Amino acid sequence: MTMPTPLHSPTATDAPWWRHAVIYQVYPRSWSDADGDGIGDLRGITDRLEYLADLGVDALWFSPFYRSPMADAGYDVADYRDIDPLFGTMDDYDALAAKAADLGLRIIVDLVPNHSSVEHVWFRAALADGPGSEARARYIFRDGTGPGGSEPPNNWTSVFGGRAWTRVTEPDGTPGQWYLHLFDTGQPDFDWTNPQVHAEFESILRFWLERGVAGFRVDVAHGLIKRAGLPPWDGPAETRDITGPTNAAPFWDQDEIHDIYRRWRALIDEYSTPGHERIMCAEAWVTPPERAALYVRPDEFHQSFNFDYLYTPFEPAALRDVIAGSLALADGYGAPTTWVLSNHDVVRHATRYGYATTGRGALGIGPQDPQPDAALGLRRARAATTLMLALPGSAYVYQGEELGLPEHTTMPSEFRQDPTFHRTHGAVIGRDGCRVPLPWVKDAPAYGFGPGGSWLPQPASYADLAVDQQTGVKGSTLELYRTLLRLRREHSLGTGGLAWADGFGDEVVALVNTGGEGGAVTVVTNLGAEPVALPAGARVLVSSGALTGDGAVPTDTSVWFTVGAA
Ligand code: GLC
Repeated sequence: MTMPTPLHSPTATDAPWWRHAVIYQVYPRSWSDADGDGIGDLRGITDRLEYLADLGVDALWFSPFYRSPMADAGYDVADYRDIDPLFGTMDDYDALAAKAADLGLRIIVDLVPNHSSVEHVWFRAALADGPGSEARARYIFRDGTGPGGSEPPNNWTSVFGGRAWTRVTEPDGTPGQWYLHLFDTGQPDFDWTNPQVHAEFESILRFWLERGVAGFRVDVAHGLIKRAGLPPWDGPAETRDITGPTNAAPFWDQDEIHDIYRRWRALIDEYSTPGHERIMCAEAWVTPPERAALYVRPDEFHQSFNFDYLYTPFEPAALRDVIAGSLALADGYGAPTTWVLSNHDVVRHATRYGYATTGRGALGIGPQDPQPDAALGLRRARAATTLMLALPGSAYVYQGEELGLPEHTTMPSEFRQDPTFHRTHGAVIGRDGCRVPLPWVKDAPAYGFGPGGSWLPQPASYADLAVDQQTGVKGSTLELYRTLLRLRREHSLGTGGLAWADGFGDEVVALVNTGGEGGAVTVVTNLGAEPVALPAGARVLVSSGALTGDGAVPTDTSVWFTVGAA
């Protein structure tokens, strides 16, 4: 091992929590079901909250639990200030928040500002009040083209497939105007040129800030502003499929969007006090990375999801590039980098890595598709997470990855609920496979998710991955996560400086995190075929898999170690 090459300077160890936090994503429908209707709920989360405190995360991000007809699993919000009865009541939320605070867990809620539900009181008024009304001007209604306005206003398509416009019936019963929905028909886009929309969302932000939330994950943060005149777009709507800059599409990443976030940042800062800083994190699927980084300028978002990292192939050069590139861009704005490998919109990383070719992959895997090598996927997923949690900045963990859960890749079509699957007539499998309810207890109905079954079927492989099968079991994925999170905290890796550890060869990603009081930690991820020896004096702290008999790091394995005095 030669002298490390610096990549990133340390952050003060007393920096605000969001600069180094590990944030756990709870998908409320699928976490734990207390009332036995087969769908997870807030009481179910409260009952088992100790599990998350024990895991060692700092904050929880909840996917939407607001009142919703569930056209897109709650990302179609009918009332931004109320809890859907499926999930419980506002009292249940307050009980959950109180217990989380007792356990030292901060709460981030999901804010969905690009669109509401068709059941939102504003949209109902827009339908009832007719063309030209004040209510209609809060959404994007336009007259149709062609004979009698029977064709949509332009050629835009929906991210979920099909056209992005739906025609309404006017109050007098005649076929009428069309409204824009970049997602499902049930998700009409707001018109963010309307000051009423701004005022309403600022009020919603205050509502949740006053309830004590630590921040917001902002849904489709790149979509709120549409180019004036709604010009035609022949390309795809799904950002993954757009080649070249995302903002070529007239509805993504338009420059004026940043004005909104500057105002929100000022508002959120009003509520921040030392030790209780409030934040917002952007879900912005934007390329090139230089454009994505604009969202974390000092007066905008605190964080933005690092989707480039999520989609990086499990290959040494690609990983090195994305780590260095992400840090350089975020550092340029004084923002922490985030790291994320899974969420409720992508194939779980234990499955993505179970193929010969890793990287972006398809949006969902079905029974007809080539099936992953589960053992390979899990082995690499553990190695990838071990690498990720050694990196400075903030990391996101998606529920179930701490159990090593794979995607449900053989779910029969009749169970699928993702609008993507239905709107593309099955051509795109969609996201149900990563949203399957968690297994808690091997020998219990629905693997202990709840007494009333599970809204999506759980694969048989979840039995042996249940929480009760892994708790206290040396080498289990759950214990690996616990150990990584404990060591990350003890060594202050979230605020550490980072440097390449040279001398391990091209097939290895090797980094030194300078850490804090706990001392520096070196992480080595071996992506080559041959085992890699550790330097003399290396003291292994944790390893994603067994080392060879002579203490070398085998293929698809990551190790954290210290060098020198303990
Ligand atoms: C975001 C959410 C996704 C949802 C979409 C529309 O991408 O993460 O689940 O379907 O926005 O709200």
